[in-house]
Amino acid sequence: MCGIIGRVGDGSAIEPLLTGLENLEYRGYDSAGIAVQNGSGIDIEKRSGKVEELKESIGDPPRGEVGIGHTRWSTHGPPTDANAHPHTDESTDVAVVHNGIIENYVELKERLAANGYEFTSDTDTEVIPHLIQYYLDAGFDSERAFRHAISELEGSYAVTAMVSGEHVLYAARQGSPLVVGMEDGEYFLASDVPAFLEYTDSVVYLEDGDVVLVDEDGVEFTDLEGNPVTRTPETVEWDPEQAGKGEYDHFMLKEIHEQPTSLAQALEGRIDTRNGRIALSDFEPGTFDDVESVQFIACGTSYHAALYGSLGLNQAGVQSTALLANEYSVAAPPVDDDTLVIAVTQSGETADTLNALRQATAEGARTLTVTNVVGSTAAREADDALFIRAGPEIGVAATKTFSSQAVMLTLLCQRIAADRQGEPPADLESLLPAVESMPSALDEVLESSDAAAIARQYDDSQSYFFIGRGLGFPVALEGALKFKEITYEHAEGFASGELKHGPLALVTPETPVFAVFTGQEDEKTLKNAEEAQTRGAPVIAVCPDDHAAVAVADEHLSIPATESELAGLLANVQLQLVSYHAADLLDRPIDKPRNLAKSVTVE
Ligand code: M6R
Repeated sequence: MCGIIGRVGDGSAIEPLLTGLENLEYRGYDSAGIAVQNGSGIDIEKRSGKVEELKESIGDPPRGEVGIGHTRWSTHGPPTDANAHPHTDESTDVAVVHNGIIENYVELKERLAANGYEFTSDTDTEVIPHLIQYYLDAGFDSERAFRHAISELEGSYAVTAMVSGEHVLYAARQGSPLVVGMEDGEYFLASDVPAFLEYTDSVVYLEDGDVVLVDEDGVEFTDLEGNPVTRTPETVEWDPEQAGKGEYDHFMLKEIHEQPTSLAQALEGRIDTRNGRIALSDFEPGTFDDVESVQFIACGTSYHAALYGSLGLNQAGVQSTALLANEYSVAAPPVDDDTLVIAVTQSGETADTLNALRQATAEGARTLTVTNVVGSTAAREADDALFIRAGPEIGVAATKTFSSQAVMLTLLCQRIAADRQGEPPADLESLLPAVESMPSALDEVLESSDAAAIARQYDDSQSYFFIGRGLGFPVALEGALKFKEITYEHAEGFASGELKHGPLALVTPETPVFAVFTGQEDEKTLKNAEEAQTRGAPVIAVCPDDHAAVAVADEHLSIPATESELAGLLANVQLQLVSYHAADLLDRPIDKPRNLAKSVTVE
């Protein structure tokens, strides 16, 4: 997820571009840049780091009325100055900003390089300005060069480009958001409305396949071939202050609702349902042949995702264990070069996790990190990295990153098991279509959730318990962590079979029990829930509508039926919503809970 801004109008473009980038920084903040027409050419200012650092580094700001800008969340290549957008051709005749992933960039790059075009970055984006230049060199005018270049791209993109000396912006959308802002004589292109809301509230949301040309006289909406299309402006009724959160009151709620999209982004190009394969292109088949055992290390929510991965790997027949990274120095099992240590960390900067990773490296283990941040320390220090592509998560409470971590770990573990055993696990054939349907299943949960009503119903309870078995256990732990973290109420997660070994003493009518059903020995979990119910506790079953638990439980939070490897992740979204609404009723500072930080860089 990156942020794009483009502006055409009277007066300097600098201020609207930098304001737009600041307003889009929630979409990415590892590098930023602008390109401005200066009358005789294009001035570029770009660097790694936040927009604030870009602003400070611009001495004499480039003058010009037309420009583009970008704030980046790395997907291809680390967050260096060279990888920052805008990208250009060699002579800086063409400048481009892009959000999305160009899947065929390797073949395009090879073809252009063979024709003498020189590349200076590791990004997929850089092929676009070179491709436009290729068509300009072949004698096409700018508009046709842009259309030809766009028609060659495969993957998802929102692209905005400009050509030296022209007062025109060219833009195209396919699978990544792009919106046009319109005010008399001043026009904007952006990934999201907050970018230009200080300047105009009249917007057109572009559709996939749209190509637009923007100059000071207006906007021309067309399809890829140049045929006109009709797009009607609408008025946005957002307060610019709130706009970073869009229609949501909190980033946490926004991020919960982003899960269908963020997960789809994580999965893009990584499963091949037709051929029944997991296509993790960074890991060739056979990569994990020699792995004898796997240790997962992580903290907090990432630990719950790690536990999810570890249980899944055990169930797929490979020996594994999940350890709290902060316990690793005192409790690590022995490692050797056949041990794979997987550090799971959203930020890639958690001190406890980095220490454990360094210890595992020093002791000779092979290491891999599963992270959201491309240029993070964990990504740089581990032997390999698998990126979850969830986009920036602003709320301190992890939500969308947990879902993406757990699904990516599920795929990774299936790959490890396939390599170890010389053949794909037996249930891969049914798992892959279910993984593919996860974004729409998440949508279904979000659209029909009764979590707000459940949160209201139990808002004066004394304690909140969460139980689950197998892959439902890490989900129960995560449900309780989320609840205590943002409501400040007491919450505990248990393996459902453990309830009777002690915690049952705490159960009263004031302790609602949320029971997660995943299809793994559900009859036992139901029995455990009934044991709590018999002692007066209300039971809220999180399961599909036709599940036996619905008739027994006091309340029901519905999830679509799916494979047992994934059901807990749908249940988790219901629990995220319960926590959110409970915290909202208590008027807690949901995005910044007391005493907590997004990234914990101390031991
Ligand atoms: O960045 P990491 O995933 O390594 O962070 C680890 C924990 O601090 C983190 O998961 C924390 O528990 C969550 N933000 C809680 O919602």
